[in-house]
Amino acid sequence: MMSSPLSRWVTAVFLTFLSQSQQGVHGKDCVCELRSSERPFPMETLDNIQVLASKCNQSITPKQVFEVDTLLLGLQRRMEELQQNTAVLEREDDGELYGAVTLRIIELELAEIQQLMARLNRTVHGLQQLSASTATQLQGMLGSMQELEDFDYMQVVNRQRENQRMRRDLDQCQHQLHATAEPPPTPRLGHCPHGQLVGVSGPRTYTLTQYGTSYSFGAWGKDPKPVPGKESTHWLVALTTSNVFANFVREYSTLSTIVVGVAPTDATIASSNPTTNTIQGPNVVMYGNALYYGCYNTPAVCRFNMTARTISTVALPQNTGFNNKFPFGHLEGTYVYSDLDFATDESGVWVVYTSPENFGNVILSEVLEGSPPALGRTYNTSLHKRTATNTFMACGVLYATRYISKEAEQIFYSFNTQTSVERYDLKINIKKMQTNIQSLNYNPRDQMLYAYGDAHIISYDAVFSDIL
Ligand SMILES: *[C@@H]1O[C@H](CO)[C@@H](O)[C@H](O)[C@H]1NC(C)=O
Ligand SMILES: *[C@@H]1O[C@H](CO)[C@@H](O)[C@H](O)[C@H]1NC(C)=O
Ligand SMILES: *[C@@H]1O[C@H](CO)[C@@H](O)[C@H](O)[C@H]1NC(C)=O
Ligand SMILES: *[C@@H]1O[C@H](CO)[C@@H](O)[C@H](O)[C@H]1NC(C)=O
Repeated sequence: MMSSPLSRWVTAVFLTFLSQSQQGVHGKDCVCELRSSERPFPMETLDNIQVLASKCNQSITPKQVFEVDTLLLGLQRRMEELQQNTAVLEREDDGELYGAVTLRIIELELAEIQQLMARLNRTVHGLQQLSASTATQLQGMLGSMQELEDFDYMQVVNRQRENQRMRRDLDQCQHQLHATAEPPPTPRLGHCPHGQLVGVSGPRTYTLTQYGTSYSFGAWGKDPKPVPGKESTHWLVALTTSNVFANFVREYSTLSTIVVGVAPTDATIASSNPTTNTIQGPNVVMYGNALYYGCYNTPAVCRFNMTARTISTVALPQNTGFNNKFPFGHLEGTYVYSDLDFATDESGVWVVYTSPENFGNVILSEVLEGSPPALGRTYNTSLHKRTATNTFMACGVLYATRYISKEAEQIFYSFNTQTSVERYDLKINIKKMQTNIQSLNYNPRDQMLYAYGDAHIISYDAVFSDIL
C-alpha cells in the first residue's frame, strides 16, 4: 500500500541522477573529437578542457553510485519487513499486548525507514548538486569548445580572404597581360581612342638598376614600335660619365630580367665616352628599334639604329639651347644637361627644347622617321622650361610635370597640338618613390609611363577616360 508510491519516488530520483550523470559522459566525447583539430590552434585551451573533463569524470565515481544503490537496497528490505509486520499486525491483532508490541516494532521500523530516507535524500541531493556543478562545468567546456571552433573558423575565413586576394591579383595580372598584348592604337593626334589622360596610377615597377646606386641619371623603357622578336625587350641607358654622357644601350629580353638585372646585351654607339654623336642628357627614347637622343656637344637630334648600328642626325633650329643652357628644374636645382627631351606617343617621336628667341619657353617638334631623320610640325608654347621637371607626349598632347614634394610630382600643364590650347590647371599627381625624376616618357603601346629616378627604374599606368 505505502511501498509502491515510495519506491516510485526513489526510482524517479535515481533515474534523474542517472540521466544527469549520462549527460556528463556525453560532453566528454566532444572533447575527444576536438583533439583531432589541426593547428594553428590554441592547444592550451584544449588542454585545460581536458583537465576539467577528467576532474568531472572523477567527481562522479562508481563509489557514489554504489552508496545510493546500498541505501535503496536497505530501504527495499525495510519496507518488505514493514509490509510483513503490518500484515502480521492486521492478521493477529487481538487489540491487546501483542498488537501493542507489533505496533511498536512497526513504529521503530518506520523511524529507521525515515532515517534511511533522509540519508538517501542527502546523498541524492549531494549528487544532484555535484551533477549541477558538473553541468555548469560542462556548459563552460561547451563554451570554450565553441570559442575554439570560432577560432578555427576565423583561420578558415582568413585563408578564404587570402585566397580571394590572390585570385583578384591573378585576375588583375591576367587582365594586364591581355592589355599589353593588344595592338597599338591607331595614331590620331589629340584624339586618344582611350580618352584623355586623367590620372597616373602605380608605381607598378620600382627597382634599382643593375648598376645599383652608381648612376643617378638615365632612362629606360620599352620600344612602342618594336621590330619582330623584340616585343618584350626593355632597354636601359644610364649616364655612366659625369651623370651626363653615355655611349651604349643596354637591352634585357623581358621585364623580369631588367628588374632582376641579369643577362643584358649591350649595343655600343662609340668606343669612347663622350665623343662625337654619343649620348648627352638623360631624356632618350627608343622607337622603331632606334634610339633618339641629344648628340654630344651639339644642338642636334641623334638616332642610333640598333639593327644597322649606324648613327644619323638632324640639326635643331639655330640658337637651340644645349650643354646645360636650358635644363629642366625645380627650386632646389636643375637636372643637368636636360636641354633636350625626347618623347614617344601614338603618332611617333617628338623633341622638346627651347631657345632665347622663345624666351626659354618650350618648343615642340615632331621628329620624322625618314633617312636621315627630319623635323616635322613645330609649336611654340608659353611654358617656361625651367619651371618644369619633365615633359612627355600622349595622343598629340604635350604634358609637363613639376616638383611638389619628395613624395609627389604633378602633371600641371598640357598643350594640345590639334587645337594649340594650353592649360595650366591640371592637377594629376604622380606618386614618387625617389625625390627626383630625371626622365619620364609615355609608351603608347602599353599606355604606361616609364621613369628613371635617382638610379631607380619606375613605371606607372597612365589612366585615360572619355568623361572629363
Ligand atoms: C573516466 O573514469 C573512468 C573510470 O574511472 C575511466 O575508465 C575513464 O578512462 C575516465 N575517462 C576520462 C576521459 O578521464
Ligand atoms: C530532502 O532534503 C531537502 C534539503 O536537504 C529537503 O528540503 C526535503 O524536504 C527533503 N525531502 C525528504 C523527503 O526528506
Ligand atoms: C635601321 O636599319 C635597318 C637595316 O639597315 C633598316 O631596315 C631600318 O629602316 C633602319 N631604321 C631606321 C629607323 O632608320
Ligand atoms: C616660334 O617663335 C619663333 C620666335 O619668335 C618664330 O620665329 C617662329 O616662327 C615661331 N614658330 C611657330 C611655329 O609659331
